[in-house]
Amino acid sequence: MADTNSGALVEAESLSVHFPRHRSATRPGIAAVDRIDLKIHRGEILGLVGESGCGKSTLARTLLGLIEPSGGVVRFGGDSIGNLPERQMRPYRRRMQIVFQDPYSSLNPRMRIGETIAEAMFIHGHATKSDAAPLVADLLKLVGLDPAMAGRFPHEFSGGQRQRIGIARALAVRPEFIACDEPVSALDVSIQAQIVNLLHDLREKMGLTFLFVSHDLAVVRHISDRVAIMYLGRIVEIAPKERVYDEPLHPYTQALLLAVPVPTRTSQKRSARKVMQGEVPSPLNPPSGCHFHPRCPHAFAPCALKQPPLREVATGHFVACHLYEPQQRSAEPDHAEDSARREGQTPHGGGSQVMSTNPGQMIERSGEYR
Ligand SMILES: Nc1ncnc2c1ncn2[C@@H]1O[C@H](COP(=O)(O)OP(=O)(O)OP(=O)(O)O)[C@@H](O)[C@H]1O
Ligand code: SF4
Ligand SMILES: [Mg+2]
Repeated sequence: MADTNSGALVEAESLSVHFPRHRSATRPGIAAVDRIDLKIHRGEILGLVGESGCGKSTLARTLLGLIEPSGGVVRFGGDSIGNLPERQMRPYRRRMQIVFQDPYSSLNPRMRIGETIAEAMFIHGHATKSDAAPLVADLLKLVGLDPAMAGRFPHEFSGGQRQRIGIARALAVRPEFIACDEPVSALDVSIQAQIVNLLHDLREKMGLTFLFVSHDLAVVRHISDRVAIMYLGRIVEIAPKERVYDEPLHPYTQALLLAVPVPTRTSQKRSARKVMQGEVPSPLNPPSGCHFHPRCPHAFAPCALKQPPLREVATGHFVACHLYEPQQRSAEPDHAEDSARREGQTPHGGGSQVMSTNPGQMIERSGEYR
């Protein structure tokens, strides 16, 4: 099946990943990914944001076929790849690559970086020993490194240069889709901006599709076309980035943006950091209904009982919250969102209550972004 109808290169349909508990395999496991529906369109950069442990890496790796789903479907280019045997998976592996937070741990310290990049080409038949050198040189140039560096070992490079090498190695197999899992989190701010700009340029030049996982709302805002917000295994909001940052609808998204203010189009002024209360619940024992309800100042009767579906409330803007379900709202007219609206505020703007997040995990940085 081709993907031309939906425009999606990568798709998840009711995708779940459960990990067993360490001590007892008989008790229900951790639902690291909980029935997620997601489409990543060809040529877009989708940002994926959420607190530590919410399942971002698990989702990214499952989309790449590195983790077997417990339920649901993963499609790549329209083909179902979720549970393929390794032999049948091999052609797809070339088309999808991953860039890690720490490229050093994934580079062989005893191999010159030119050899590492060439090796990726050999495995997928993109080069032979005789023609690899100019191709490696081209790739190094593409990622902003001097081709003369091909003979050096990984320890001779800085963190930012090593991340460029990691990106060059991913590009060596001519992928269509690259999942970047916290690719700039370990780098200095100025270097972060350079790597983000590089990824942006590569998308423009090569038409690549990216999933960009990060804690950093400023970086995600800069690089992404659309942004997905994840909470305890579920996507709670997904929309074009302008909508997420300027008109967030889900109370959790609003809390994240309040906790870590970033400049928005409507307000360039940064408000003071608000202190949030409460803790992220354990993924071993997530709250019923909407997982966010114990921390949500707008929670009302259905929230603890029923999981809100992810529904499209404006073109391309999806949110999983009972506040945006017409029947639920008319059944419970007095909830906080309605009173906030009566006062001409969005729910996040009006209340004295503030929600909890883990401020240590959600960070704001600025750099020289283009
Ligand atoms: N191999 C595994 N075995 C058991 N549990 C796991 C495994 N990998 C992840 N988990 C659990 O699944 C949940 C989601 O983990 P994941 O690493 O995907 O989160 P994350 O959002 O990427 O976090 P971080 O921002 O810290 O990288 C966590 O509760 C984690 O402890
Ligand atoms: S209003 Fe209810 S459904 Fe919406 S985020 Fe709050 S608890 Fe969840
Ligand atoms: Mg992670």
